Amino acid sequence: MNSMSGPQSGSRTWAEPYKIKMVELLRMTTREEREQAIREAGYNTFLTRSRDVYIDLLTDSGTGAMSDRQWAGLMLGDEAYAGSENFYHLEAVIKEYYGYEYMLPTHQGRGAENLMSQLLIKPGDYVPGNMYFTTTRLHQELAGGTFVDVIVDQAHDPESSFPFKGNVDIAKLNRLVQDVGAKRVPYISLEGNVNMAGGQPFSMSNLNDLHSYCRKHDIPIMLDATRTIENAWFIREREDGYADKSVREILREICDLTDGCTMSAKKDALVNIGGFFACNDEELFKKSQNLAVVYEGLHTYGGLAGRDMEAMAQGIREAVTEEHQAARIGQVRYLGEKLDAAGIPIVKPIGSHAIYINAKRFLPHVDQDEYPAQTLAAELYIESGIRTMERGNVSAGRDPKTGKNRRPQLELLRLAIPRRVYTQAHMDVVTESVIDVYKRRNEIRGLRIVYEPEYLRFFQARFEPIS
Ligand code: F0G
Repeated sequence: MNSMSGPQSGSRTWAEPYKIKMVELLRMTTREEREQAIREAGYNTFLTRSRDVYIDLLTDSGTGAMSDRQWAGLMLGDEAYAGSENFYHLEAVIKEYYGYEYMLPTHQGRGAENLMSQLLIKPGDYVPGNMYFTTTRLHQELAGGTFVDVIVDQAHDPESSFPFKGNVDIAKLNRLVQDVGAKRVPYISLEGNVNMAGGQPFSMSNLNDLHSYCRKHDIPIMLDATRTIENAWFIREREDGYADKSVREILREICDLTDGCTMSAKKDALVNIGGFFACNDEELFKKSQNLAVVYEGLHTYGGLAGRDMEAMAQGIREAVTEEHQAARIGQVRYLGEKLDAAGIPIVKPIGSHAIYINAKRFLPHVDQDEYPAQTLAAELYIESGIRTMERGNVSAGRDPKTGKNRRPQLELLRLAIPRRVYTQAHMDVVTESVIDVYKRRNEIRGLRIVYEPEYLRFFQARFEPIS
């Protein structure tokens, strides 16, 4: 075994590879205050106020704690409109760690998704992917494409312990290519550590197979690199032949098998805001630079301040270290194992960024069109002020053709863990709170929608309890 092996191996307890320099005080609320707050928020945790939240597990996106070096980087911000020093620094870091030839900063991940979808997808195209992500699929649809799920079947089964539930099912991909022809498939959208499947990795051998298939059919592989450093950790931990490679080497190996990426730097890269688009094709890059001036800003800042780019460059360097990933993934696993030991139905294997509770099994008496995961999010908030997110029927939205709820197989409550923010004691409180809700699960009733916006309804929809 290598010296920094997984958080669970070796004889000593693992610990965070940092100490705390500054703290942010938390506010405790009463149950009555929380009942009022969630009612006013239309039973949607996205509409609650942060000041009413005790432990915030809404998302791991932009909620991490930056290091002293990242904060120092903010002071080095070169806030020039064009050609900021920080841009060139970030460009060099992305080339070094991710390996892509060209990089364009964007304000966050969906900014990059918009540019890439507009440039690569033509109306009538099909975009296969290893499960959908909300914003990614919407940009594909807005560009006239149809998303086609080609992830392995195990990904849709919350009970399956398959170690690489993020893998692409090449037979499903091939069926699509045979049906519509490779010319109608502008690229395959490959996500690292698939969010909607529970934070599940793909394996390198699957990526190698995908690469051979795509080369043969001349289909580019565009990576959603958002949590790919965490995916690299799992490859190291689980895949034969990778135990002695560094996370950094594995990340490069992944990127070298792909043609470009979109990135939400608010996750892996440890910043509060930012993203990028990167690729190896000069012509595509030039087009993306040109489109960026319409939607993001000049191509050397893409909607970011110089200081944001500096913090991102430093964040990437910290994120690829073994110590960071061991503690990051170790903390999530600690929470997951405690919940599992208490009999709470969670998605397994435990992913890197969140614990997903299987709401269909937690609330089997609540029909999927009464939104069990949304209901559970509201109940956990009322119980203890812990804020989480629905990833089920509300997130999946309606089928654009039938207008009906998609009723996805996975109806999950996500407890996303911000990076470097909460302690093990917080994770213990979370466990106790979930258990308390579980004990009274039979009394819990579902929700109905009273307001539904057109796009990404989970962010702004309002609900009321079914009496
Ligand atoms: N891709 C993945 C896999 C994501 O998880 C996200 C965001 C995006 C793209 C979009 O990036 O937010 O920077 O525009 N996920 C957040 C979440 C919102 O909570 O999972 P963005």
